[in-house]
Amino acid sequence: MAEHIEVMLTEEEVDARIREIGEQISRDYEGRSIHMICVLKGGSFFMTELAKRITVPVSLDFMSVSSYGGSTKSSGVVKIVKDLDEPLEGKNVLVVEDIVDSGRTLSYLLDMLWDRGPEDVKLCTLLDKPDRRVIDVNVDYTCFRIPDEFVVGYGLDYAQKYRNLPYIGVVRFD
Ligand code: IMP
Ligand code: MG
Repeated sequence: MAEHIEVMLTEEEVDARIREIGEQISRDYEGRSIHMICVLKGGSFFMTELAKRITVPVSLDFMSVSSYGGSTKSSGVVKIVKDLDEPLEGKNVLVVEDIVDSGRTLSYLLDMLWDRGPEDVKLCTLLDKPDRRVIDVNVDYTCFRIPDEFVVGYGLDYAQKYRNLPYIGVVRFD
């Protein structure tokens, strides 16, 4: 099946909003440092752009998870494919995600991170699809709330394609 991508948020809109959220985070964390955790692979583009806009000291770590169960619907039971390199004791953790959808993955992940003894855990997401929420998750920073559409670009994929698009688009099947 052929497909094409329809632009939802332009590169300029995304970049401007990341700059804004970066400034807000820098103000909120004044006098503290932030330990940013990127959830691979989708969060990687957002994480690097956001980190560049934060003015307090930042350290980075990466984690890769996959959900057990069906391939199209996340089950909420998360398997760690790549764990963090650093312990979290006493750190101000900021989890950076590409998108919060059902909330299943995040809710499981946040509980697991809290169990490692951080000072604090907050969540920052590029996109939020609130209409799709099944499990309540507290999102501290959201760049864009979007309608229930399957989106790609800026790290998000469709069958591993389109992660490198510099904008957010909707997949349309011709
Ligand atoms: P959930 O919140 O546990 O349902 O899972 C969210 C994960 O599903 C995200 O981290 C993405 O990897 C994936 N996902 C959800 N919606 C989309 C989308 O519109 N495009 C690409 N991936 C998505
Ligand atoms: Mg993801």
